[in-house]
Amino acid sequence: MMALFSKKSAELSQERPAFDVLPEHIGIIMDGNGRWAKKRGLPRSAGHKQGSETFRTIAKECGRLGIKHATFYAFSTENWKRPKEEVEALMRLFKEYLLEAKEDITAADNNKIRFVGIKEGLPDDILALVEEAEEDTKNNTGCDIAVAVNYGGRQEIVCAVNKLIADGKTQITEDDISNNLFTVPDCDLIIRPSGEQRLSNFLLWQAAYSEFWYSDVLWPDFTVNDLYSALFEFEKRNRRFGG
Ligand code: IPE
Ligand code: IPE
Ligand code: MG
Repeated sequence: MMALFSKKSAELSQERPAFDVLPEHIGIIMDGNGRWAKKRGLPRSAGHKQGSETFRTIAKECGRLGIKHATFYAFSTENWKRPKEEVEALMRLFKEYLLEAKEDITAADNNKIRFVGIKEGLPDDILALVEEAEEDTKNNTGCDIAVAVNYGGRQEIVCAVNKLIADGKTQITEDDISNNLFTVPDCDLIIRPSGEQRLSNFLLWQAAYSEFWYSDVLWPDFTVNDLYSALFEFEKRNRRFGG
């Protein structure tokens, strides 16, 4: 089946394969923007710009395929260590996306947009736009697109536990933590382009039984066909959950 979808052909012809099994929740680590730019002698911000275009394409495609939840890792709690200009460029791109979402993305695709991450530390104008985008799309019934910015899997678990303590809990269960995460509790498939084979603090709790799909393609070059390849591979996996 995969051979039918040569590079770009599906995008050009708008063909869309039918999958027997689709992951309910996919997580995508959008990695490789810097190396993409370096290869072209461009500043890292140019890689992030191109990566943000890929994000728009892939997020839309998730909705069209009928995937219920897609979490996109855009900026980690550790990414603040990067040079100030790079951090500013990334925040600017996030803001542009939110502004665009407000204008038309959401109406056209019927997808929900959510922010997942730590709000403290993010600029007020971005937080205000996040609130608007979430409010504007909350009744949409398409894909729940969670954009992970200032996100860390460890922080997410710590936040859940602190919330439970604040609620007066003295003993907690797995369900308590699952129900207090930023994003949905179980992730079926994690996709990481750029050749790295690590989680980098993404969805630690949710990844307990995730399938992993890695590829050397850099995120700005990632196409809907790469997404289809990951989904074809997912269909073939034998998930046992320890049973
Ligand atoms: C992913 O691309 C974007 C962020 C982590 C914000 P990178 O910027 O990490 O690109 P590489 O890994 O250096 O190529
Ligand atoms: C993970 O990528 C974070 C995002 C893609 C947003 P990094 O580039 O920050 O991860 P490491 O440093 O290679 O582990
Ligand atoms: Mg990276």
